[in-house]
Amino acid sequence: MVQNKQLGPSDSFIFNRTGHRLRNRTVLAAMTNKQSHSDGTLSDAEIKWLTRRAKGGFGIITTAAAHVSKDGQGWDGELGLFDDMHIDKLTTLTDSIHTHGSLSFAQLFHGGMHAPQYLTEKTPISASKIPCDESKSGFTRSASGKDIKRLINNFTAAAVRCVQAGFDGIELHGAHGYLISQFLGTKTNMRKDEWGGDLKNRTRFLIEIYRSIKENVPDSFIVGVRISPEISDLGINLEDSINLAGFLRDEGIDYLHISCWDAFAKSKEYPDDSRRLTEWFTQSVDDLPPIISTGSVWSKSDAQELMNQGADLIGVARVGIPYPGWAKKLSQENYNPPRAPFTVQHLREADLSDVFINYMRKWDGFVSNNN
Ligand SMILES: Cc1cc2nc3c(=O)[nH]c(=O)nc-3n(C[C@H](O)[C@H](O)[C@H](O)COP(=O)(O)O)c2cc1C
Repeated sequence: MVQNKQLGPSDSFIFNRTGHRLRNRTVLAAMTNKQSHSDGTLSDAEIKWLTRRAKGGFGIITTAAAHVSKDGQGWDGELGLFDDMHIDKLTTLTDSIHTHGSLSFAQLFHGGMHAPQYLTEKTPISASKIPCDESKSGFTRSASGKDIKRLINNFTAAAVRCVQAGFDGIELHGAHGYLISQFLGTKTNMRKDEWGGDLKNRTRFLIEIYRSIKENVPDSFIVGVRISPEISDLGINLEDSINLAGFLRDEGIDYLHISCWDAFAKSKEYPDDSRRLTEWFTQSVDDLPPIISTGSVWSKSDAQELMNQGADLIGVARVGIPYPGWAKKLSQENYNPPRAPFTVQHLREADLSDVFINYMRKWDGFVSNNN
């Protein structure tokens, strides 16, 4: 079903349940940037980088993935949400984002098997005991029933901190192979109890986190979920992900964020089918919540094409780094800014600190070797 949503500066969007109004359909997707302090508090550099994108006209600004408990930290310089000490700086951030007219979302996550022991001093925890390079023993520890309850409480407490810090909503990070997706995947979740087995059971961890959060945040607070359609290494397949979207719709989530990496790619599982990843969802599931889709959008025509696939909101990550004003510039016809590499000077002018610029060197070809 092709939808005729238009992409323009005046094409606002309303989250029907909560009444939040977006000035346009653009979303700055979560981007780890390594700029937080070692205790997880937000740095001024991170506030500056996100504020600049709010000034640049994005409808929603999402924080980097933030760990909800100390044992969930995936890398250094990561934003934390595991303690009340984080609230102060986050309040400065949300005030600043709101001043410039964007909604502010925080992304909540736990690294699970990707939370290295050298950082957390704990054996990485996951749905099952599985091989794990980040663990001194070479394996994760399978979460006990008590661990699971504690983790649900950690996610809930982090969400409550987000309310206190003035965020408009949160995104549960159920994508990219972190703890929630380790529960979803058949290769990482071999449990025989109610937290493993069929899709309903493998989804239980995510759903219970969602329900617990909903019981503890105001009704007006937006709660959405990000998922990956396919991660074959984890045993996450497209059919399960589509069914998961149906479960999440039934729970009443405020939005579903599909992380495609390349939104114009076909399914890896069904390469002969012409549907793009987002279309698999928008054409298979009735009454979906608003869909954010993200992956390889660069130009205005990319964004429009993704809306034609049925996305309600367009997420971008990489193009928002060199072009903080990308959202506003969509008002230009045929907007298609130059692609990587970007010089250090260009990135500094776009309000990236050197820490973030160095991190971006890990993304092949993004930072130019010439200054
Ligand atoms: C520097 C960088 C950091 C990222 N960090 C996160 C993250 O913290 N959480 C997340 O869900 N995705 C993260 N992603 C993935 C992006 O949100 C996005 O899905 C992906 O980059 C594809 O979109 P793009 O083609 O517009 O960059 C990151 C991507 C980049 C480039």
